[in-house]
Formats: sequence, C-alpha cells, structure tokens
Amino acid sequence: MTALFSPLELRETTVPNRVMVSPMCQYSCDARDGLATDWHRTHLGSRAVGGAGLVMTEATAVEARGRISPEDLGIWSDEHAAALEPITEFISEQGSVPGIQLAHAGRKASIERPWDGHDPLQPDDGGWEVVGPSDDPWPYEDGEAPPTTALDQDGIEAVIDSFRAAAERALDAGFEVAEVHTAHGYLLHQFLSPVTNHREDDYGGDFEGRTRLTREVTAAVRDVWPDDKPVFVRISATDWLPDRDAWTVEDSVRLSDRLADIGADFIDVSGGGIHPKSRPDYAGPNYQLQYAERIREETESDIAVGAVGGITTPEQAEAVIANDRADMAIVGREHLRDPYFTMTAANELDATDEIEGPPQYRRAWGF
Ligand code: FNR
Repeated sequence: MTALFSPLELRETTVPNRVMVSPMCQYSCDARDGLATDWHRTHLGSRAVGGAGLVMTEATAVEARGRISPEDLGIWSDEHAAALEPITEFISEQGSVPGIQLAHAGRKASIERPWDGHDPLQPDDGGWEVVGPSDDPWPYEDGEAPPTTALDQDGIEAVIDSFRAAAERALDAGFEVAEVHTAHGYLLHQFLSPVTNHREDDYGGDFEGRTRLTREVTAAVRDVWPDDKPVFVRISATDWLPDRDAWTVEDSVRLSDRLADIGADFIDVSGGGIHPKSRPDYAGPNYQLQYAERIREETESDIAVGAVGGITTPEQAEAVIANDRADMAIVGREHLRDPYFTMTAANELDATDEIEGPPQYRRAWGF
C-alpha cells in the first residue's frame, strides 16, 4: 500500500488520494466577464480524469476588481456560479473533490495576462482602479501602476462580504472545498505583511492587526461553509525578505493555529509574491516543503498541511506523504505537462490496484 493513494479525511469529505491540482490561473475567460468557458471545463475536467484526488480552480475573484487580469475567472454573481456548476459535477463524477480558490488581487490587480505583455492596465485602457491596505502601488519595473487606494473601514467590510457571498455561491455551484487565497502578495497577504501594510488602525500594526482581515475573511467563509465540508487557506509561509521587516515562517505557524481555532482545516503552504524581490534562493525540487513541514510540526493544533513547489515526480510525491512531511502533495506545473499525473504515479509506484481510473482508459493503462 502506498502512502500517496491513502485517502485523506477532512471533516466528512474524503479526498481519495493525496494529489491536489494546484490552483493555476488560465487567463481564459471570454469578453472579460469572469465566466467559466470550455477551456476551464476541459482543463479542470482533464485533471479529474487524470485521477487527482482534489482539483482546485484557479484564483477565482470574489469581486470584479479583485481579478489579476481581465481574463480571470470570477464568482461575483449567480451567473458565475451557474457557469461553474457543470465543471464541479464532472469533477465529482470522476471521483475527485472539486475545490475553489476564492481570491482578491488587491493592488496586484489590473494587469495584462502574460501572453498579452503582462503590463499594468490603466482604467481608460481596459483596466480599473485597485485597492490595498495602503495607497502605495505595486512597484512595476515597466509601466505605471493603476491608481491604488487604501481600503477604508467600509471597504474592508465590503471585501469580507464579497468573500462570504462568493463562498455561498461556490457551495451552490457544487464545490466541496473552499480555499481562501492569502498568498502570493494578493490582497489578504498585503494586509498580513509589514512590507505592504502601513495602516495605523485595527487592521495594521502588530501581528493581531495585520492578521485581522485574513482571520475575519476565513471566519466569514467558515460561517457559510457547511460543517461537514473543509475550508483551506493558502498562505505564503515567508516573504523571503530576510533583510527587512517582513512576514516570516514563525508568523505563519502562529497564524495557522489561529486559523485552526476559527475552523480552518488545511493550510496550503506556498511562499513569496509580496514584492518583486520576494523570491527563493533555490526553486528546485521540494523548494517549499520545509515550510509545510515546520507548520505541521510546530502548530499546536492538528491542522492538516499541503506542500507545493517543485513536486514533479511520483516518487517525490510519495516521499512527501510517506515520510510524514505533509498531508497532501500539491502539484502545479507538472499537471500542465501531464494531466494524468496521478495515473502516471499509480503506474510508476506499482499501485494500479489502488486507483480505479476511468473505465474508458483503464485497459490502456493496465489498471
Ligand atoms: C500559478 N500559481 C497560482 N497560485 C495560486 O495560489 N493561485 C493561482 O491562481 C495561481 N496561478 C498560477 C498559474 C500558473 C500558470 C502557474 C504556473 C502557477 C502557483 C501554483 O499554484 C504553484 O504554487 C506554483 O506553480 C509552484 O508549484 P509547482 O508548479 O512547482 O508544482
């Protein structure tokens, strides 16, 4: 029996194996409307056919100005939920668990998708005004940032309401897991980190103040997410800025316990993104696993953790789980190269009797 193909129980949800498709923006909505398209259906559906235990959507904006690019997926209306429903149905039919990453890009919003140039967009040129904890803009090397405004108290409450309403719609659309995106320098991370949060009110200052928005958003999502279904939070475990006052792994351990108290079930442990210089020295195999492992070991709660970053082979994924370093192996780019990563893993780990696989493909795979 492999570790990778053992199920993970989170509340009443059973994830059939330990492979999760990492959230990955596809920049593929038509007409800048945030509605899921055939691309999303095929992309997410293929990874479910490929056997991943949990298929997570890309960052899905809880309000229109929270999109990174105009072509990002959204869930700010019932129409958005309706467009996602056939996708969750298909993922569930394959035996995978459908998850949605609820996101707000904050001051990193309003930028062209990568293959259109990745330049910041102004409100009069297809972009929009953006918000953050403070009014200093993202320091673009090329191009001018869109106008950036610090959220006031009403604006903060509206953001919390947007996350809550988005979670309600996600539930209607058939998702089993809601993941709050607190990583990669987007809005909630902008509040967490002293690099970007210069507020002097209750949402800034010390650890309590800077983590308040993340805690309130997580509580709002937990409040509407059924008791039998898990809530995940993706964090950047570190800002990778050792020479300045920045978010650290110690902060992440502390935050993880606070999130567990609120009812979060799983910390999806990523890193960086708060500043252009916020980069790891090493980005090879397992480059962020050490942070997942530390959070798993050092939290007082028994919150589950997922490791992401440079997991590309079945042996690596198996070792992450078998050696008790994390509860889930989260695979990003390798899933873009091989949508059937989990079936590949079953073959290579000699575990084809531990996965059903789609009957349409089973004989070809020797299952
Ligand atoms: C990403 N990543 C990402 N992360 C996230 O939390 N939400 C997102 O929408 C995206 N979008 C995205 C798009 C693309 C094309 C890539 C390649 C990456 C980061 C991703 O989930 C993952 O954390 C990193 O890619 C590291 O894992 P891998 O790729 O080394 O397995």
